[in-house]
Amino acid sequence: MENKQINFFKSKDFNAVLKPFKKGTVVKIDNIEVREKEKHLNIGLYGWYAICPSKDLKKNKLYFFSLFDEPLLLFRDENNNIRCIKNICPHRGASFFGGSISNGELTCPYHGAKFSSEGTCQNIDRITCSHIVDNNYNNYAKRIHLSQYKALEKDEYIFVYFSDKSETDLKNINDVLPIKNYELIDNGFSVKDCVSEEVLVDFKCDWSRIIENHLDILHIFWVHGDTIPDKDVNKNVLVSFNQKIKINPTYIESIYFYKSNPTKEFIRIKYIPPGRILIYKGEPSVSRYVQVLDHIPLGDNKARVIVRHYRKFLKNKLLNNLILFKEIQKKIFYKIFDEDYMILKTQTYNHKLGLIKNDEIKLLGEDRIINYFWNWYKKSEEKDNPWKFINKNKELDVYNEIIFKYPPEIKKLEIINNINIIRKTFIRYLAPLIFLLLII
Ligand code: FES
Ligand SMILES: [Fe+2]
Repeated sequence: MENKQINFFKSKDFNAVLKPFKKGTVVKIDNIEVREKEKHLNIGLYGWYAICPSKDLKKNKLYFFSLFDEPLLLFRDENNNIRCIKNICPHRGASFFGGSISNGELTCPYHGAKFSSEGTCQNIDRITCSHIVDNNYNNYAKRIHLSQYKALEKDEYIFVYFSDKSETDLKNINDVLPIKNYELIDNGFSVKDCVSEEVLVDFKCDWSRIIENHLDILHIFWVHGDTIPDKDVNKNVLVSFNQKIKINPTYIESIYFYKSNPTKEFIRIKYIPPGRILIYKGEPSVSRYVQVLDHIPLGDNKARVIVRHYRKFLKNKLLNNLILFKEIQKKIFYKIFDEDYMILKTQTYNHKLGLIKNDEIKLLGEDRIINYFWNWYKKSEEKDNPWKFINKNKELDVYNEIIFKYPPEIKKLEIINNINIIRKTFIRYLAPLIFLLLII
């Protein structure tokens, strides 16, 4: 991808962190502990991506999205298995947008070719292009197949394994990394007695910049200080941290301790490449709260984030309903993402124009995890080359309309949520009060 090079990769600070270590030794650079045998992430940009919450993928409904600009779609087949296929009909290349799915059978909207959930064309009676099928429907049908990626359902998320290319036979996709390290239980969390809420948000900015933002603890105080309902997080309490970074083949974890009180933990951030971040406090087994952030690289300058909170407090349904907890929580999420959005957009612009120069940027101690992230990203991008479908002609991009559906890019849901809060507050509190006043 053009202009993808980030100059600060070449900075002296950055290379110092990355220099090779002797086998088996524990090396400390500033506050970072690096263990030789643990120092490499072995997952690149090809891997499992959480695409949507399970409940968003309804039976007999098509779910359109893209990964690295490749148009894809999801559906449940007749056995409730998840299918992820390329959104290109193998007859004449139409999109399945406007098509339909019924009992695992997908119908193309252009000439009505029907594909079984296995991806083969079962019934092309309705194809009328005889110059293409040459009266030999049966033979033709055997030769056209849908192209698929591996997909599955875990922890109430739909995951897709994005790899080098889609295949007409899933058996041809080899070396699939296990899904285990994305599972909450494998990360030490037991969420069966938790309640959760989530929002999805769409951004016109670089996917990797959003990950960087979620690895960055310093901006939380400055940008979100007035919005995050935590007395320790506000604009007037700018703090610095010591950090303990652990690097494993499947994750990077950073634990932040207050510099002023080195035994007091502020937060833990765990990055599980390519797209998942877990934010929590204390040991996972006793943690009362975990935020799961999934980052979906829809395309160039196009990304989605799924945020899900699991919590062990405020579980009472009635109380939650009374205080409109879910709606208020959503409002806070949207506000937080709005606060980041302009920064992320302009930072993406600066990055893509090659304006972020190593000699003009000086990282802070707390930015170390971001260094690791960019190193991993650059190497993975070179190794995997996921941007091969990048759309260079922005005017031709019809997929934004099909794919984008969440705020801050689309404000509609945010407005609906605000109206919901007003409506429910009126019904629950004001209406009974007015009624009471009237009868008195
Ligand atoms: S393009 Fe799909 S049936 Fe013709
Ligand atoms: Fe932020």
